[in-house]
This record gives sequence, structure tokens and C-alpha cells, in this order.
Amino acid sequence: MRVLLASSEVHPFSKTGGLADMVGALGKALGRKGHQVGLVTPLYAGIRERFPLKLRDDLPIDLPIGLRRVYGRIWTLSPSENLTIYFVDQPAFFDRADIYQRDGVDYADNAERFTFLAKTVAHLATHLDWKPEVVHLHDWQVAMAPLFLKQEAPSSGSKDLPPVVVTVHNLAYQGLFPAHQFALTNLPWDAFNPSVSEFYGQVNFLKSGLASCELITTVSPRYSREIMTEEYGCGLDGLLRHRADSVSGILNGVDYEEWRTEGNPHLKHPYSSADMAGKMRGKLELQTELLLPRDESIPLFGNIGRMVEQKGVDIMLPALESLLAENLQVVILGSGSPTFQRRFVDLAAKFPTKLKVVIGYNPGLSHRIEAGSDFFLMPSRFEPCGLNQLYSLRYGTIPIVRRTGGLCDSVTDLQEDFAKANGIKFTDYSSTALAQAVRKALSMFFEPSLLQHYRFNAMKADFSWDRTSDAYVEKYSQAINKRRGAGVST
Ligand code: ADP
Ligand code: GLC
Repeated sequence: MRVLLASSEVHPFSKTGGLADMVGALGKALGRKGHQVGLVTPLYAGIRERFPLKLRDDLPIDLPIGLRRVYGRIWTLSPSENLTIYFVDQPAFFDRADIYQRDGVDYADNAERFTFLAKTVAHLATHLDWKPEVVHLHDWQVAMAPLFLKQEAPSSGSKDLPPVVVTVHNLAYQGLFPAHQFALTNLPWDAFNPSVSEFYGQVNFLKSGLASCELITTVSPRYSREIMTEEYGCGLDGLLRHRADSVSGILNGVDYEEWRTEGNPHLKHPYSSADMAGKMRGKLELQTELLLPRDESIPLFGNIGRMVEQKGVDIMLPALESLLAENLQVVILGSGSPTFQRRFVDLAAKFPTKLKVVIGYNPGLSHRIEAGSDFFLMPSRFEPCGLNQLYSLRYGTIPIVRRTGGLCDSVTDLQEDFAKANGIKFTDYSSTALAQAVRKALSMFFEPSLLQHYRFNAMKADFSWDRTSDAYVEKYSQAINKRRGAGVST
């Protein structure tokens, strides 16, 4: 199959979160399976210096953005079998080190930047010589592309256009802009209506895509059901319920070539489920690196992620406050809301031998925390999929997760199936429920055979992309049939 993917971030070129990991790994996995894959993404600052890109003179970009024309160039790279990355070079929009914002404030021209990106996706979808059969968009930054696709080929009629699958990685981010910015799209104003682009007086990029694509997927089955409820629907639950037949969830996979406990350049001490000695050495080194007491008998809890409400930081702070009286250590790596950052740093100052908080973005340290911790905390308020708990499982680090979205779909609790249990789940979104789950972990830590049972199950769990990429190919076929009018339901 010939597939064109599009995303505003792709690992290893650019990344703020799991979106980048997912899209990078999906492209690679599809290519390996013999599909022809293109992936459109911006050329951010520094990418050209790090990768040997080729300029494609034959693919000039010259598109209207409101009243002006914006030019761009395309650079390509083929990092793995059958995969070509199309980098969109538009220095005024993308030659920035930070992707969406500076110092916590969104760039003022994000509507223009991502309108241009989505228009470029539509342009490439109809002008690439290998003629993509399906377009797969990820999140709001490219979600307007189906509307632009229809503009690209008005004469040939929609039957000749590739169908579009939109994957929602996080419904909380929709790309909302003031109504007057709809003019940037050059679309007829009749699309600015509540069944397509209009959302309580604003332009909504994600909604535009969800209303106009063939199929919608989310990154876990449970999240695909959650987003049809008022609680998790972020105002789009009505539209999603209306399109329920076209909505489904596919749990993300893990790139095990990167997230592995053996032959991993970030880990000094390899280990496997058959020989866990390296995990213990990694724990001791992590304690040394972070200036914590070096002692393998102290249970160590890790947490990595964006410090925003989604990730449960507001229940984690009070829970830690009460738990830090116990004999345990906690290591936190992340960045985000300045208020949350300060509260974590202040708490660490109160418990210097028990809590280490590293503010920043550090991939190497994230591997060492995943490997060196005994338990991993993911108390998210909501979690479309979540990748860190999947990485934890592979690293034999027991995840403690709230029963929501992909966390619930990927971790098995004792109550569900003792034989397969690999993590601890809690339900209430409260610091008390989280603290209780951590206390369960503490008692497990002192029962070595139980801990070993969990670790073994965790490391055996398989979330490889091999299976996951087949599920997407199945969706692409459904989308193609739908566009052809074969009447295939999803
Ligand atoms: P989300 O995409 O909602 O942020 P995920 O769990 O899906 O959450 O993915 C987060 C990804 O970003 C993981 O690969 C994680 O290791 C990485 N990550 C998040 N924060 C940091 C950080 N401060 N340093 C290094 N990696 C980070
Ligand atoms: C989003 C979600 C996260 C998911 C990731 C990759 O950032 O917040 O849960 O794992 O996308 O799909």
C-alpha cells in the first residue's frame, strides 16, 4: 500500500512527546512491511545539520495563506526501508528550536504555520509521483488537510482523491484560533459552520479534520470510547458520537530497537528477564548520578513527562508529600507548567535524600530512569495511550497507573489476572488513591518472589509495532473502500 503520513513532530528529528515516537515508529514499521511510506513534517532548526537531507527541486511549494503567497522547499531523507521523510522548509515558520511555543507562550503565528503545513500535505498528496493511496494525519497541526485536499482537485471530483484517516493522539489539543484566522485557509466561508470548522465562535483545526475525514482512530481502544463521553470529549463528544461508526482505537506500539535493555547506548549495564543483575547496577548508578543514597534495598519510583494537569501532577504532589516520610526514593524528570515545576523543586528541597527533580528534557536520563527504577508512576487524569508505561514494562519496572485510556488497556492488575499481573492500577483521581497504590508497591517490593513474578510478566508483554502496523493497514483498506463507495463499515 502507498501511504502518506503527516505529523508536526517525528522522532528522531523533532519531539515534544509521544506523538513523535508513535509516528516515527509507525512509518518505519510500515516501510519494513513492504508498504511505500512518505512522511511530511516541518524542517525545524538543526535538522539539516544533523541529517544528510537531499533538496527536491522538483517539488516547489507555493501556496496561498490568506492574502499572501508562501513559498517553501522540500528536502527528503530515506532513513529506513521504503520510508521517505518529506521535510517542509519554510524558515520564517519552522526555523525555530522550539516547536509550538517559547517560554510557555504559544507562537502568535501558529494558525499560519500549521495552515501552511496542512496545505503542503494536501499538495504533496496530489502531486507526488508515487500517488499515495491513503493519507494518514496525526493531531490538529495537520488536521485541516482533508479540506485542502478537496480544494486541490476540484475538477477531478472527490472520488480521485486519496481518503484520509485522522488519528487523535490527544483531544485536549485542538488548534483553536480566533474566527478571523479562518481567512488564512482561503476556504469558502461556508465551511466556517458548526458541523465543520466552527467551534463556539472560534476556528477548530482538529474538528475540521474529524468532520471531513473517512476514518478516525485514537491511540487506545478505551480512549476511543472515552472521547465520546462529556467527561473526556473536550466539547467534541457530540461530533464523535455522531461519527461513532468511523471511530476506533489502536493501542500504540513500542520501538523495541530503541527501548531495549540490551545493546542500549544509554544503559551501561545490560540485563534481561533471565539475568536482572544489570538492572540493580543501573539502579545504583542512577542513585549516584542523582546524588541520592546508594542503596539497592530502598524502593525507587520514577516518573517522566510533561508537567501538566493531564499527567496527574496535581495529585502526585500531595501524595508524595505524605509518602516521603516512608523509606523510599522518587526521581522525577520533566518540564512544563512553571507553577508545577516550582512546586516539585520546592518539595525536593524539603526531602533532599529522597526526592530528586530534574527539570528539563533529557532522553538519555529518561532511559536510565526507566531502567533504574523499581516502579514507575503514571497517575494521569486522562491518557490517550501513554508510552512511558509501555517502556517501563519492557524495562521490568512495574507501572503504577490510573485506570484511564491506554494506561488501562496496557497494564494488567492483580485483580484482573494474577497469572499475568504486571502493574498496579487505581481508579479514583485522588492523591489518597495514588498513595494507596504506592503503598501496595512498597509491600510488593519486600516480597521478592512476587516482585519477580510481576517483573517477568512485564518484560514478556509484547507491544511491538509488527502487529500494530497491520491494524493500521486494515484501517487504510477500510478508508479506501469507503472512498470508493464500497459501503464497507468500520
Ligand atoms: P505525552 O505524549 O502525552 O507527553 P507519552 O507517554 O505518550 O506522553 O510520551 C512521552 C514521550 O516523551 C516518551 O518518549 C517520554 O520518554 C518522553 N519524554 C517526556 N518528557 C521527557 C523529558 N523531560 N525528557 C526526556 N524524555 C521525555
Ligand atoms: C499524546 C498522548 C499520549 C500518547 C501519545 C502518542 O501525546 O498524550 O497518551 O501516548 O500522544 O500517541
